[in-house]
Amino acid sequence: MSFVSEHARRQYATTTANLTARMALHSYGTNPETWWEWVTPRLPRDGRVLEVGAGTGELWQHLPHGPLTLVDFSPAMCARLRQLPGARVLRADAGALPFTGDAFDTVIANHMLYHVDDPGLALREFARVLAPGGRVAVAVNGRDHMADLEDFGTPGRAPLRLNGFSAETAPPAMADVFDDVTVERYPGDLAVPTSEPVLAYLDSWTPLTGAERAAAARRIQERIDADGAFRIRKHTVLVTGRLTR
Ligand SMILES: C[S@@+](CC[C@H](N)C(=O)[O-])C[C@H]1O[C@@H](n2cnc3c(N)ncnc32)[C@H](O)[C@@H]1O
Repeated sequence: MSFVSEHARRQYATTTANLTARMALHSYGTNPETWWEWVTPRLPRDGRVLEVGAGTGELWQHLPHGPLTLVDFSPAMCARLRQLPGARVLRADAGALPFTGDAFDTVIANHMLYHVDDPGLALREFARVLAPGGRVAVAVNGRDHMADLEDFGTPGRAPLRLNGFSAETAPPAMADVFDDVTVERYPGDLAVPTSEPVLAYLDSWTPLTGAERAAAARRIQERIDADGAFRIRKHTVLVTGRLTR
């Protein structure tokens, strides 16, 4: 049985390009400390580390690592991950991890739990594969994250409300499974000086039609002319916990 969502399949199974286009928009952050610089010192990374939904493995370009296992359901992502030196890569589903209990000391799920059909099941899988005392860290977005983009596309294009797993719902869901739950918000928004990266971001969800693209480009440019940049508010948190039960 597969727990991979239809949405994740469409977005990620055959290509890394949608993820890469979205990450590119985040290079226009207002905080000089990038997300990666901010998150890496806050991530637990004791002992045997598992990252679930590892994508292109960008995190590990910023973080030295010991024994590392990377999981993603997507063949395209796994092909990219296999280029990373020193990591074991497995194609698998977050809802059915191919490991026995007690296999890891740290589990990381960075910006992925809002893509799965059943985030509670995935959290229980993380707990199952962790050793007692093991640490977990998940990054998720708030409900208002990038809401400035909402009226630039059809509801199907809006990235914001995929399964309701958010900065608001993740902490109690984590506390159902883990102890010592902490939440910390990454400070900073986006200020994009040209329309192209925003259009590429919108395209990465569902390709814009010619008419949609022209209309969106015009509206984005109006805001750039008025404010000097197209501002997009962000709301991203890191939630951590420990397995003590
Ligand atoms: C937004 S990307 C985040 C990638 C990476 N963690 C990062 O922060 O750059 C979400 C990733 O989760 C993967 N994914 C989605 N659903 C999954 C599932 N059920 N099991 C494993 N991986 C999944 C996707 O293929 C994609 O690589």
